[in-house]
Amino acid sequence: MQKIKVEDKEFEIFLENDTLNKRIRLLGIQINLDYEGKCPLFIGVLNGCFLFLADLIKEINVPCEVAFMRVASYEGILSTGKVKELIGLPDNIEGRDIIIIEDIVDTGLTLTHILKTIKDKNPASVKVSSLLLKPAALKYEIEELEYIGFEIPNEFVVGYGLDYNGLGRNLKDIYRATES
Ligand code: IMP
Repeated sequence: MQKIKVEDKEFEIFLENDTLNKRIRLLGIQINLDYEGKCPLFIGVLNGCFLFLADLIKEINVPCEVAFMRVASYEGILSTGKVKELIGLPDNIEGRDIIIIEDIVDTGLTLTHILKTIKDKNPASVKVSSLLLKPAALKYEIEELEYIGFEIPNEFVVGYGLDYNGLGRNLKDIYRATES
Protein backbone atom coordinates (compact mmCIF):
# COMPACT_ATOMS: atom_id res chain seq x y z
CA MET A 1 0.00 0.00 0.00
CA GLN A 2 1.43 3.34 -1.10
CA LYS A 3 1.67 5.65 1.93
CA ILE A 4 2.60 9.33 2.11
CA LYS A 5 2.93 11.98 4.75
CA VAL A 6 1.35 15.43 4.42
CA GLU A 7 2.62 17.67 7.20
CA ASP A 8 2.12 15.56 10.37
CA LYS A 9 -0.44 13.15 8.97
CA GLU A 10 -0.14 9.79 7.23
CA PHE A 11 -2.27 8.98 4.18
CA GLU A 12 -2.72 5.90 1.99
CA ILE A 13 -3.65 5.70 -1.69
CA PHE A 14 -7.41 5.71 -2.26
CA LEU A 15 -8.41 6.81 -5.79
CA GLU A 16 -5.77 6.75 -8.50
CA ASN A 17 -5.62 9.41 -11.19
CA ASP A 18 -6.66 6.89 -13.84
CA THR A 19 -9.79 6.00 -11.89
CA LEU A 20 -10.60 9.69 -11.42
CA ASN A 21 -10.20 10.41 -15.12
CA LYS A 22 -12.37 7.49 -16.23
CA ARG A 23 -15.19 8.65 -13.98
CA ILE A 24 -14.79 12.29 -15.04
CA ARG A 25 -15.10 11.24 -18.70
CA LEU A 26 -18.45 9.63 -17.88
CA LEU A 27 -19.65 12.71 -16.01
CA GLY A 28 -18.74 14.76 -19.09
CA ILE A 29 -20.81 12.50 -21.35
CA GLN A 30 -23.78 12.80 -19.01
CA ILE A 31 -23.52 16.61 -18.88
CA ASN A 32 -23.16 16.86 -22.69
CA LEU A 33 -26.38 14.89 -23.12
CA ASP A 34 -28.31 16.82 -20.47
CA TYR A 35 -27.25 20.25 -21.77
CA GLU A 36 -27.62 19.67 -25.50
CA GLY A 37 -28.75 22.93 -27.13
CA LYS A 38 -27.88 24.94 -24.00
CA CYS A 39 -24.90 27.02 -22.91
CA PRO A 40 -24.24 26.18 -19.25
CA LEU A 41 -22.16 28.38 -16.97
CA PHE A 42 -19.80 26.29 -14.83
CA ILE A 43 -19.01 27.95 -11.52
CA GLY A 44 -16.05 26.35 -9.78
CA VAL A 45 -15.79 26.68 -6.01
CA LEU A 46 -12.15 27.46 -5.23
CA ASN A 47 -9.66 26.30 -4.16
CA GLY A 48 -10.38 22.60 -4.18
CA CYS A 49 -12.17 22.36 -7.55
CA PHE A 50 -9.34 23.49 -9.80
CA LEU A 51 -8.05 20.12 -11.01
CA PHE A 52 -11.50 18.50 -11.23
CA LEU A 53 -12.91 21.43 -13.18
CA ALA A 54 -9.87 21.52 -15.48
CA ASP A 55 -10.30 17.84 -16.36
CA LEU A 56 -14.11 17.91 -16.55
CA ILE A 57 -14.32 20.96 -18.80
CA LYS A 58 -12.11 19.24 -21.40
CA GLU A 59 -14.82 16.58 -21.76
CA ILE A 60 -17.58 19.14 -22.40
CA ASN A 61 -18.53 19.70 -26.03
CA VAL A 62 -21.60 21.92 -25.72
CA PRO A 63 -20.88 25.68 -25.73
CA CYS A 64 -20.14 26.73 -22.15
CA GLU A 65 -18.66 29.40 -19.91
CA VAL A 66 -16.50 29.04 -16.83
CA ALA A 67 -16.28 31.23 -13.73
CA PHE A 68 -14.92 30.78 -10.24
CA MET A 69 -15.98 31.79 -6.76
CA ARG A 70 -14.56 31.24 -3.32
CA VAL A 71 -15.83 30.30 0.11
CA ALA A 72 -14.02 28.68 3.01
CA SER A 73 -15.57 26.73 5.88
CA TYR A 74 -12.81 24.33 6.75
CA GLU A 75 -9.93 24.74 9.19
CA GLY A 76 -7.57 21.81 9.58
CA ILE A 77 -9.41 18.52 9.65
CA LEU A 78 -12.72 19.37 11.34
CA SER A 79 -15.51 21.48 9.87
CA THR A 80 -15.93 24.65 11.92
CA GLY A 81 -19.58 24.78 10.92
CA LYS A 82 -19.04 28.41 9.92
CA VAL A 83 -19.40 29.50 6.33
CA LYS A 84 -17.60 32.66 5.31
CA GLU A 85 -18.70 35.17 2.74
CA LEU A 86 -19.01 34.18 -0.93
CA ILE A 87 -16.47 36.02 -3.05
CA GLY A 88 -16.46 36.54 -6.80
CA LEU A 89 -19.86 35.14 -7.70
CA PRO A 90 -20.57 36.26 -11.30
CA ASP A 91 -23.21 39.05 -11.53
CA ASN A 92 -25.07 38.03 -14.65
CA ILE A 93 -26.49 34.64 -13.82
CA GLU A 94 -30.15 35.50 -14.26
CA GLY A 95 -31.68 33.10 -16.79
CA ARG A 96 -28.50 31.02 -17.04
CA ASP A 97 -28.12 27.26 -16.64
CA ILE A 98 -25.64 26.98 -13.79
CA ILE A 99 -23.50 23.97 -12.92
CA ILE A 100 -21.65 24.41 -9.63
CA ILE A 101 -18.40 22.48 -9.45
CA GLU A 102 -17.25 21.27 -6.03
CA ASP A 103 -14.33 19.09 -4.98
CA ILE A 104 -16.15 17.47 -2.09
CA VAL A 105 -19.45 17.71 -0.25
CA ASP A 106 -19.06 16.83 3.41
CA THR A 107 -21.85 18.16 5.69
CA GLY A 108 -23.32 20.08 2.74
CA LEU A 109 -23.31 23.36 4.68
CA THR A 110 -21.09 25.18 2.17
CA LEU A 111 -23.13 24.02 -0.79
CA THR A 112 -26.47 24.87 0.82
CA HIS A 113 -25.23 28.40 1.38
CA ILE A 114 -23.92 28.72 -2.19
CA LEU A 115 -27.16 27.36 -3.65
CA LYS A 116 -29.31 29.79 -1.69
CA THR A 117 -27.24 32.76 -2.86
CA ILE A 118 -27.26 31.61 -6.49
CA LYS A 119 -30.99 30.85 -6.56
CA ASP A 120 -31.72 34.36 -5.25
CA LYS A 121 -30.31 35.63 -8.54
CA ASN A 122 -32.94 33.79 -10.63
CA PRO A 123 -30.93 31.43 -12.84
CA ALA A 124 -32.86 29.24 -15.32
CA SER A 125 -31.56 26.11 -13.57
CA VAL A 126 -28.93 25.06 -11.03
CA LYS A 127 -27.22 21.67 -10.71
CA VAL A 128 -24.16 20.60 -8.81
CA SER A 129 -21.29 18.37 -9.81
CA SER A 130 -19.06 17.22 -6.97
CA LEU A 131 -16.12 14.92 -7.48
CA LEU A 132 -16.60 13.41 -4.02
CA LEU A 133 -19.53 13.03 -1.65
CA LYS A 134 -19.50 11.70 1.91
CA PRO A 135 -23.12 10.50 2.29
CA ALA A 136 -22.65 9.59 5.97
CA ALA A 137 -21.55 13.15 6.79
CA LEU A 138 -24.34 14.90 4.88
CA LYS A 139 -26.56 17.01 7.15
CA TYR A 140 -28.53 18.95 4.53
CA GLU A 141 -30.74 17.62 1.77
CA ILE A 142 -29.42 18.86 -1.57
CA GLU A 143 -31.61 17.89 -4.50
CA GLU A 144 -29.41 19.75 -7.00
CA LEU A 145 -26.56 17.23 -6.49
CA GLU A 146 -26.80 15.63 -9.92
CA TYR A 147 -23.30 14.70 -11.08
CA ILE A 148 -21.30 12.89 -8.41
CA GLY A 149 -17.93 11.35 -9.10
CA PHE A 150 -17.56 9.04 -6.12
CA GLU A 151 -19.44 8.41 -2.89
CA ILE A 152 -16.79 7.84 -0.24
CA PRO A 153 -16.75 6.86 3.45
CA ASN A 154 -16.63 9.54 6.11
CA GLU A 155 -12.84 9.80 6.07
CA PHE A 156 -10.50 12.71 5.51
CA VAL A 157 -9.00 12.75 2.00
CA VAL A 158 -6.28 14.76 0.33
CA GLY A 159 -4.89 15.23 -3.19
CA TYR A 160 -6.15 16.16 -6.66
CA GLY A 161 -7.06 19.66 -5.46
CA LEU A 162 -8.05 18.71 -1.90
CA ASP A 163 -5.81 19.93 0.89
CA TYR A 164 -4.78 19.21 4.44
CA ASN A 165 -3.81 22.51 6.07
CA GLY A 166 -3.17 23.96 2.62
CA LEU A 167 -0.90 21.12 1.52
CA GLY A 168 -1.38 18.18 -0.83
CA ARG A 169 -3.46 19.84 -3.55
CA ASN A 170 -0.76 19.00 -6.09
CA LEU A 171 -0.98 15.21 -5.59
CA LYS A 172 -2.18 13.41 -8.74
CA ASP A 173 -4.12 10.77 -6.84
CA ILE A 174 -6.49 10.99 -3.87
CA TYR A 175 -5.28 9.61 -0.52
CA ARG A 176 -7.16 8.91 2.69
CA ALA A 177 -5.98 9.47 6.26
CA THR A 178 -4.81 6.22 7.85
CA GLU A 179 -5.97 7.33 11.32
CA SER A 180 -8.46 10.04 12.41
P1 IMP B 1 -19.07 21.07 4.02
O1 IMP B 1 -19.55 22.49 4.10
O2 IMP B 1 -19.04 20.42 5.38
O3 IMP B 1 -19.83 20.23 3.02
O4 IMP B 1 -17.54 21.14 3.61
C1 IMP B 1 -17.15 21.31 2.31
C2 IMP B 1 -15.72 21.78 2.21
O5 IMP B 1 -14.92 21.24 3.25
C3 IMP B 1 -15.08 21.27 0.92
O6 IMP B 1 -15.29 22.16 -0.15
C4 IMP B 1 -13.63 21.13 1.31
O7 IMP B 1 -12.96 22.34 1.14
C5 IMP B 1 -13.67 20.79 2.78
N1 IMP B 1 -13.56 19.33 3.04
C6 IMP B 1 -14.53 18.50 3.47
N2 IMP B 1 -14.07 17.24 3.60
C7 IMP B 1 -12.77 17.28 3.25
C8 IMP B 1 -11.75 16.26 3.15
O8 IMP B 1 -11.93 15.05 3.43
N3 IMP B 1 -10.53 16.68 2.72
C9 IMP B 1 -10.26 17.99 2.39
N4 IMP B 1 -11.19 18.95 2.46
C10 IMP B 1 -12.43 18.60 2.89
